[in-house]
Formats: sequence, structure tokens, C-alpha cells
Amino acid sequence: MKDVLYVGVDDHEIELFEGQFPVENGMSYNSYLIMDEKTCLMDSVDKHFSEEWLNNVSKALNGRSVDYLVISHMEPDHSGSVVAFCNKYPNATLVSTDKSFKFLNQFYGEVKNNKLVVKEGDNLSLCKHNLKFVMAPMVHWPEVMFTYDEYEKVLFSADAFGKFGSLDYDDPEGWACEARRYYFGIVGKYGAQVQAVLKKLANIEVKAICPLHGPILDSDLDYYLKTYDTWSKYEAESKGVFIPTASVYGNTLDAANCLKEKLEAKGIKAIVCDLNNDSMTEAFEDAFRYDRIVFASVTYNGTIFPSMNTFIDGLVERGYQNKKVGFIENGTWAPMAAKVMNEKLSKCKNLEIIDIVVKLVSRLDDNSIKQIEELANKLA
Ligand code: FEO
Repeated sequence: MKDVLYVGVDDHEIELFEGQFPVENGMSYNSYLIMDEKTCLMDSVDKHFSEEWLNNVSKALNGRSVDYLVISHMEPDHSGSVVAFCNKYPNATLVSTDKSFKFLNQFYGEVKNNKLVVKEGDNLSLCKHNLKFVMAPMVHWPEVMFTYDEYEKVLFSADAFGKFGSLDYDDPEGWACEARRYYFGIVGKYGAQVQAVLKKLANIEVKAICPLHGPILDSDLDYYLKTYDTWSKYEAESKGVFIPTASVYGNTLDAANCLKEKLEAKGIKAIVCDLNNDSMTEAFEDAFRYDRIVFASVTYNGTIFPSMNTFIDGLVERGYQNKKVGFIENGTWAPMAAKVMNEKLSKCKNLEIIDIVVKLVSRLDDNSIKQIEELANKLA
């Protein structure tokens, strides 16, 4: 990209993104500057980084001023420095959707800069660079829009295609792992809306994707688009059995690990997650990633353990679907977990429930091990 300069910032202080997603490797808030006859900034950054961002912008401008600030998404991790920008560049025109300007006012009060309201298919010419606006409602808020630079064939994709992690962190797992956790944690509920915008992009040549978080994607674009297509269709990305487990004294976890061993002996990938101690946001990611899942919970207060309750609620609200599902329950005097989990999941579409329920009475025994073997056969 010749005329598109990165002017965003890395956040190394943040521990929980959006107050709930652990980001031990930080977070980036991306912003880009398009240098043409007119200059155009793409989005601001979180308010804690206003000064650093404005310095980056000023250096990149090299003495010029800003003509336009395009606001793709009004969530405060991106809009938090708009007011600081307007104070420094009162003659710049803000470009965004009608809804976005309404949200701007709600968050920050009246902003005096000129405003240009754009809608689907509208254009903004910077001279060589013609920007075309593509509405992307609910990816991840209703006011979101993408911007396509026809000259350099760059797609500014708001939150889409973003990932956790600062840009100066060289992620050994590459893009997909933390992009998947980001997608299913934050955008996952809106698969239909992601599908709608992917269809609009189908006939556009894209040479680079510039998201608001994570690295610029400028090679193998088909892979990223195809992966987003898979995720937003709620199709399984990988073959394997995910086993989220809620255990109090370790007996239910023993059963989950027993199932894992039996599956692995059959050559099937199996992943056990201890919902009480492992990351819930990683658990959401893996639940969507694999094609099969076995929920293992102890019975607690006549229902399921709180961590499993939270986990299943999170799946249901994200539109969980299209899986083969098994259950392991434990109960010392009145096991209820499988029934409760099954009922909670009944709101999900297209789940194939396996007819064998593994029932532990306090701990693994010969009978429950036999049931686990039968469950493993059904999963295979
Ligand atoms: Fe990166 Fe939806 O904000």
C-alpha cells in the first residue's frame, strides 16, 4: 500500500478487553491515514491513547492537515479520541453513517466539526483514491460500515478480521487463534450479518484488509475471507471433540479425561476444558471450532454447576448450532445435569444429540467407564 500509512497504537496496559476478554498480549487500536490530494484518516483510537495517536498522525501528515476522518465504528475503543481529534483539527470533516453520528452525540455530546453522512454505495473522492462505503450493520454494532479504497483495492473492515494482541507482539500462533477467539467472543452472535457483508464483497477485488485490531492482511486474502465465511455460517472449522467440564472435586473431570483418552485411542482429537479454571473465552472459541462436543457437569443445587450454566448461556446467545452433542453428568443423590443441559441447549438449531448419557454416581466406576466407551464409539 503506497499511500496508506498506519498511525494506530498498541495497548500494553489493558488486561481485559471489553471488560471480559483476557488479553495478556495486549491489543491494538488501528488507525490509517490515506495521503492523497485530500488526506483522510480512518478511525481514531481508545481515549487513553489520544496523545500518542495524534502524534502519529501529525508525523505522518508531515506538515499537512486532515481533510476527513472516517468513523467506521462508534464503539469507544475506536471513537474515544474523536473529540481530541476535533479539537486539534476543527476544519476536518467527519464522515460516517447517520446512526454513527447519533451515537457520537450520545457518547460525547455535540461535536462542531462538519459532518458528512454516507450510506450504502456512496463515494468520497480524495483524488486518485475513491472511497466507497459498504454498510456492515451488526458487525459488530448497528452503525458499522466498511470502506473500500478502489484505487489501492484496500478494504477497511472495522472490527471484522481483527484479532487480540498488540501489533508488536509476534504471535507464534499466527492470525487464526486469537482472531477466532475475537470473532466468536465478540461478533459470533451476528453470523447472518457477517454473511450479508461477505456477499457484498464477493465481487470486489481486495488486495489488503485493514481491520481495526490486529495486523494488516495483505496476502492469501482468500484464506481470511473463507475462514470468516466458515465461522459466520457456524460451520465446524476442525474435526475433533471438545469437552467442556464443570467439576467440583475432580471426579467429573476424571470422566472427561477418560473420554479424551478413549477418543485419542481411536485417533480422534479431543480437548478437555476445565470451565472453573481455564479461560471461558477460549472455551467459546473451541466450542464453535470443533464439530463435536460433550458437556460434562456435576449436578449442583438441583441444576448444573454455575460455570457450565454461564458457558451454555454464552453459546445460546451466540447462536450455537450444527454440532453433534453428548453429555456426561455426575450426581451423588439426584443427578440432573444432563437433563438441564439438554433443555438449555434446546434453543439451539441443528444439534444432533447422542442418545447415550454417561451417568456418574459420585465418581468413575466400571459402569460409567463402559458408558464412556459407548459414547466414544458414537462420537467416532
Ligand atoms: Fe473494536 Fe466493536 O469495537
